[in-house]
Amino acid sequence: MTARTIRLGRTGVQVPVIGLGTWSFGGLNVNRGVSVGWAGHDDGQAQAALATAYELGLTHWDTADVYGNGRSERLIGTMWSSVPRSRIFLATKFGYHRGPAEHPYEPSFMRARLEESLRNLRTDVIDLYYLHHCDFGPQDRQLEGAVATARRFQKEGKVRWIGLSDWDARRIRRYADVVDPDVVQTYRNVVDDDYEASGLRRWVEDNDRGVVFFSPLRHGLLLGKYAAPVEFPEGDFRRNVTGFRDPETIRRMQQARQALIERFPNHREPVLHGLCGALLSGQKNACVLVGLRNPDQVRAAATIGEPLSAEEAAWVRARYVA
Ligand SMILES: NC(=O)c1ccc[n+]([C@@H]2O[C@H](COP(=O)([O-])OP(=O)(O)OC[C@H]3O[C@@H](n4cnc5c(N)ncnc54)[C@H](OP(=O)(O)O)[C@@H]3O)[C@@H](O)[C@H]2O)c1
Repeated sequence: MTARTIRLGRTGVQVPVIGLGTWSFGGLNVNRGVSVGWAGHDDGQAQAALATAYELGLTHWDTADVYGNGRSERLIGTMWSSVPRSRIFLATKFGYHRGPAEHPYEPSFMRARLEESLRNLRTDVIDLYYLHHCDFGPQDRQLEGAVATARRFQKEGKVRWIGLSDWDARRIRRYADVVDPDVVQTYRNVVDDDYEASGLRRWVEDNDRGVVFFSPLRHGLLLGKYAAPVEFPEGDFRRNVTGFRDPETIRRMQQARQALIERFPNHREPVLHGLCGALLSGQKNACVLVGLRNPDQVRAAATIGEPLSAEEAAWVRARYVA
């Protein structure tokens, strides 16, 4: 099976329309009192997921320096004896870890983070290096230096393409012209969707950039797989997402799941297909990053990636809104 690919905007790189997210590979994690990791991580399962992804053509892998404080990057770095590095489109990010620096986008600190990511990933080059957020400090004081430094990394051949990410599409849109990223990465699923209204979609299309949508399943909640509200342990990011604890949301997700199963009866993964296909509807240079923790989840994701029609996408969305 070969995954459908798209051209990632002006990079010209063809990537699978379904990317593999590895945030959960960092395991449980607490930062300044906030749960920012994932329960239930297992190194062996994660490595098996990566190996299966390679076999099935899911070769766009996304990580970040902060996922488990480097653990996710290091795990990917263990794969090169069985997966050719050149066959993987490898993306990582920097910007949340501050260390001794006054701001994480200070040029000398950016350099230290880059070198650490290269070491963790056991590679000479990062294909796509993202500024992880759009907070450039008071009066955007770090903006110019961060952009110049990222471009310097590119000239040195340590980074192929520059990305700009944020949970808020409006913030990416605000900084897009100045940062001039090759690829943008934003939060988007059928419930939380500011991509068009923020003007980011227009900017991406007018300027021929690549776009990557993250958390298409709202961290698993939209799949409707929970029979009852769930309380995640300390260190699991999902503690902060109230829907997981709300009986009414859980019930609505289950109903939506059933509706999608009935609407797409011939698809092996009707719910995944509906949730991700709705985001790909009408998009040219877009891919979706799904968090995949084990080989079964990878196999399921390898069956999806077809865009829905506009009518189908509107129907899917309507199943999820209150
Ligand atoms: N740039 C940023 O700021 C940013 C922010 C967030 C995420 N991201 C990236 O985007 C990726 C994806 O986002 P995400 O991890 O938040 O969430 P997601 O893709 O919305 O949900 C992923 C979770 O859903 C569950 N799942 C996936 N496939 C499944 C299947 N076939 N059956 C049942 N459960 C399944 C898994 O968790 P369980 O098995 O535990 O249920 C998995 O970890 C991240 O890994 C990361 O690479 C980037």
